[in-house]
Amino acid sequence: MKTLLAFNGSTRADSFHGRIIRVLPSLAPDDVRIAEFDLSDVPFYNQDLEGDRQPAAVMAMRAAVAEADGIIFAAPEYNYSYSALTKNTIDWLTRPMGAGALRGKKVMVFSVTPGPGAGRKVTATISEILPFLGNEVVAVVNAATIHEKIAANNDTNNDTNIDVIVDEELSTALRAGLAAFS
Ligand SMILES: Cc1cc2nc3c(=O)[nH]c(=O)nc-3n(C[C@H](O)[C@H](O)[C@H](O)COP(=O)(O)O)c2cc1C
Repeated sequence: MKTLLAFNGSTRADSFHGRIIRVLPSLAPDDVRIAEFDLSDVPFYNQDLEGDRQPAAVMAMRAAVAEADGIIFAAPEYNYSYSALTKNTIDWLTRPMGAGALRGKKVMVFSVTPGPGAGRKVTATISEILPFLGNEVVAVVNAATIHEKIAANNDTNNDTNIDVIVDEELSTALRAGLAAFS
């Protein structure tokens, strides 16, 4: 059984990216488990908080990444780039330099940012930097219209009903992305 660890660059309660993370288990191959790491308690990166001063949430995050077989970055686009939360996650996980927990991990990046760009700028930016940090990007997925589908079905408030969250095109792309870790 493989474990893929997902990070959401948004802590918004109704985050579209969070909704997608919660349906990933239904799209994953049978031998793949999806876990989400909650970033709420991870502070802003500070080099003074390294070594024996590492915050508990940072230690837990680094340990979870070290144990994971692959990483998923759910990346909302903020001002034509990644959110501070996404960048902060990458910063913690790439220290100590050259030996961070993220090093060598296969990564999938997806964005369901509403709007005509569908978050393509943020996924392109992350895909560009990760190879320099020792990562292989195995899949990049973008979709822009998912918020309309979720809004149309919002009264069901059913996070695990895949038909409420994703359309055929997005579910096909996410399935292929999750299969690309094998
Ligand atoms: C500070 C900020 C900057 C944003 N910049 C962009 C942007 O450059 N392009 C875009 O398409 N959407 C932009 N958005 C819209 C977000 O991508 C959108 O709200 C998205 O749904 C956030 O992800 P979430 O639903 O997972 O919270 C921005 C939102 C915020 C709060």
